[in-house]
Amino acid sequence: MKRFAVVGHPIAHSRSPALHQAFAQSQHITIDYQTILAPLDGFEDVVKQFFDQGGDGLNVTVPFKQQAFELCAVTTQRAQIAQAVNTLWQENGKLHGDNTDGQGLVAALQWKGWSISGCRILILGAGGATRGVIYPLACAGATSIKIANRTLARAEQLVNDIQPFVPQCRLSASSLIDLKGEFDLIINATSASLDGQPLHLPEQLTSLAAYEMAYGKPSDFLQFMAARGSACSDGYSMLVGQAIEAFKIWHGHQLSLEHFMSD
Ligand code: ATR
Repeated sequence: MKRFAVVGHPIAHSRSPALHQAFAQSQHITIDYQTILAPLDGFEDVVKQFFDQGGDGLNVTVPFKQQAFELCAVTTQRAQIAQAVNTLWQENGKLHGDNTDGQGLVAALQWKGWSISGCRILILGAGGATRGVIYPLACAGATSIKIANRTLARAEQLVNDIQPFVPQCRLSASSLIDLKGEFDLIINATSASLDGQPLHLPEQLTSLAAYEMAYGKPSDFLQFMAARGSACSDGYSMLVGQAIEAFKIWHGHQLSLEHFMSD
């Protein structure tokens, strides 16, 4: 039986084992999929041991995605732009890595029926979560993506790093305080709701749609946008979307997000 696991710290809350088991069952495949709690200073040893013992694939979550990228001998372009990896496997004795988070978000937005093509997108936050999704959103046809961050310099850095890879999409940076403009879609990629922190947004902010990357916790952001008439979604669909993309890498089966979002 093929062996998979998700590595993180903390990890007990992870929904990945249940998702991958449901995917495998739908394809009549039997897999073993565990959670591994890696010590904060022990991620590299955990990865090495897993693959040395014949493991087939690892998902990587907070806080190890950047470290996972550094460990890989081979990475996809989207992982290189994200500078982070959430899916690992071995080929010819070499560690390979990909980042499926951005494609997971694109699939989630498409499943909602929210068009990305021609869209003016605002992303709140300029950390790892934002870095992972800019390139896939631009490739899916976004016309412009503004990155607004509490610390302006981090947003400017992301724009400088990623703009050369997406000439078809206009990237710009803003501080949260000076945020202006009209948007079709606003994505909250800050860690504010995960940390239970308030996110202070300008009163005049409006958008047709609002997507919160976090899930399972009350979101001030979604409450704020719902009060302004936006269609709202939390990040569960992105979680399922990134898992479907990892499943495709490991097993070669393309699953439909809709099928696993019916509950
Ligand atoms: P992740 O990898 O989840 O993106 P991160 O790299 O620590 O985590 O980034 C967290 C992001 O959330 C940052 O953009 C951070 O803003 P700063 O760069 O100014 O720190 C943003 N963030 C966290 N808490 C916030 C809050 N209460 N209000 C506004 N932005 C917040």
